[in-house]
Amino acid sequence: MTIGWGIIGIGRIADSAMAPAITGDANSRLEAVVSRDEGRAEAFAVKHGAAAAGTSYEEMLANPQVDAVLICTPNTLHPDQVVAAARAGKHVLCDKPLGGIAADAARALQACKQAGVKLGINFQTRHHGCFQEARQAIAEGRIGDVISAQVDASPGSDPPGGWRTDAALAGLGATNNIAVHIYDLIRFLFDDDPTEVVAMFESGRAEQLERLPMVLMRFSRGALVYANGNQLTPKPLNDLVIHGTRGRIDARGLTRPGQEGRMRIVSGEDETEREYSSHDAYARTLAAFSHAVSEGREPNPSGLDGLRSVQLTDAIRRSAREGLVVPVGE
Ligand SMILES: NC(=O)c1ccc[n+]([C@@H]2O[C@H](COP(=O)([O-])OP(=O)(O)OC[C@H]3O[C@@H](n4cnc5c(N)ncnc54)[C@H](OP(=O)(O)O)[C@@H]3O)[C@@H](O)[C@H]2O)c1
Repeated sequence: MTIGWGIIGIGRIADSAMAPAITGDANSRLEAVVSRDEGRAEAFAVKHGAAAAGTSYEEMLANPQVDAVLICTPNTLHPDQVVAAARAGKHVLCDKPLGGIAADAARALQACKQAGVKLGINFQTRHHGCFQEARQAIAEGRIGDVISAQVDASPGSDPPGGWRTDAALAGLGATNNIAVHIYDLIRFLFDDDPTEVVAMFESGRAEQLERLPMVLMRFSRGALVYANGNQLTPKPLNDLVIHGTRGRIDARGLTRPGQEGRMRIVSGEDETEREYSSHDAYARTLAAFSHAVSEGREPNPSGLDGLRSVQLTDAIRRSAREGLVVPVGE
């Protein structure tokens, strides 16, 4: 039995990446789509081959053909929509972030647990092929104990528009748009959580949406990480470098989707280097979720990964606005 999908929020990511990921997955089928505008919903349904199109997500959640819901609306709308989907007995793949603040993300996760449905997050960076290998190399001890990492990711310097300029819908600026992917990536690679952060925004301490959040994190096993996910630098490198007690991993040009680059693993005297692409990251994330649902497994990334990410961004916001080192998740 394939997974029947409904999509709430049929903007850019749904149209360019996620609807094609559903229709391209052998284990999935697209059943229904929801927009605030009927004509837009119908046009999207025709384009991507969905059986139903509507303007009410509550009605879509009553459709028995829909097993799982993909949420691609503005950030702070996610928690209520996750809760509604869970109460209707639907599994949920929610785009990042799970919410604007951790209390809302926790509420969404709790609703899914109570309803016994799966919750996954569209942190597709961990599904770049190179990073699955990097995680395995770290787990096998090829670079020894991790000491530090530096990571940057940026789509360039175009200013965000639309709802991303409205703090009530966006929550944070480049932190939520871009940087959350690399924070999640480091958690995934290290299989560890940050315990404290210090952050500065280029916008200073004002209540203003940032375009350059600069973040330092300490992880529970001691590694220090510098992360720069921004929407301000016009010629980004999109690199990741991890240093360990026996070696190094460097992935060049691979921290954003739709890229080609090289990753090298230096382990003692050995060195391996290969080319990788991140073009299929959204498709891999969707397929991993639908297989987890079919097999009754916890999705990767999970709802808990979504909550951890929002706990971290709460700490980052507080650090940047108050000029403090802030513990994560307290
Ligand atoms: N994983 C990734 O790499 C990635 C990449 C891009 C975006 N995202 C996430 O995906 C979500 C959507 O981003 P997007 O780039 O697709 O945005 P977008 O192009 O603006 O699409 C969002 C859609 O949500 C619907 N919507 C419902 N209520 C809305 C409201 N009050 N204001 C504005 N739109 C509303 C709109 O569809 P209707 O007007 O048809 O109702 C709109 O087209 C965000 O949470 C974002 O963080 C993730």
